[in-house]
Amino acid sequence: MITKEQLDLERLPRHVAIIMDGNGRWARKKGNPRIFGHRKGVATVREITEAAAELKLEYLTLYAFSTENWNRPRTEVDALMSLLVATINKETKRLMDNNVKLKIIGDVNALPGPVAQNLHASIEKTKNNTGLTLVLALSYSSRWEILNAVKHISEDVHQGKIDSEGITTEIFETYLNTSGIPDPELLIRTSGEYRISNYLLWQIAYTELFFTSTLWPDFRKENFYEALADYQKRERRFGKISEQVAKNTNVNS
Ligand code: FPP
Repeated sequence: MITKEQLDLERLPRHVAIIMDGNGRWARKKGNPRIFGHRKGVATVREITEAAAELKLEYLTLYAFSTENWNRPRTEVDALMSLLVATINKETKRLMDNNVKLKIIGDVNALPGPVAQNLHASIEKTKNNTGLTLVLALSYSSRWEILNAVKHISEDVHQGKIDSEGITTEIFETYLNTSGIPDPELLIRTSGEYRISNYLLWQIAYTELFFTSTLWPDFRKENFYEALADYQKRERRFGKISEQVAKNTNVNS
């Protein structure tokens, strides 16, 4: 088990993204309905958010509900939405106590009214917090996000606001939901699945990937530290050779 003390606090990622997977299997293994796993998953969200805030990470992005998740049985979608409203209401105080700022990425318009209203209230309340930014991906998928960016950018070209020749990586990024947020240096997926599932496809071009068989409800702070310790062992080259990056001791650059 890795402890916080074993981490090099000078070489932590600024941004960690997580695909929280395995809630349903965790519940089924215990002979319970799937929603039981999602409820336990909320406790893990709390624990990992606090761990990230304590470590002074800048961004934690959690895949809470994908565009594809709308296709789950109606009862599960409704239960997840209710859980989301209840969690946001209950946890906003804790976000304030931990100086955490809440943000969302995804198709907010697709969310039921009460979910969107509660989220907006919590975003507004936490907007001046200066610690960790907790980004919830809700009704989110990368292809939706990229397509949406393309539509907006084409409108701006059409209206003469920008010139198509002048579209750079940096300009394109300002049209994404994650505009202003640095790319994640580390992506964690739980539950033993080795897929990206339409998550942050543009943003993870150079991200280190960490897969674990632990199911999300069983994922503890120590598992999070283990992923961070593993990240710290890696050499990030960004297409360069070892000797070029050896001069650079900061993994964040
Ligand atoms: C994946 O497990 C998990 C989800 C689709 C939802 C994640 C939601 C939560 C942890 C609760 C709400 C979140 C917040 C931020 C308050 P799965 O259902 O795909 O599990 P399975 O692969 O075992 O079926």
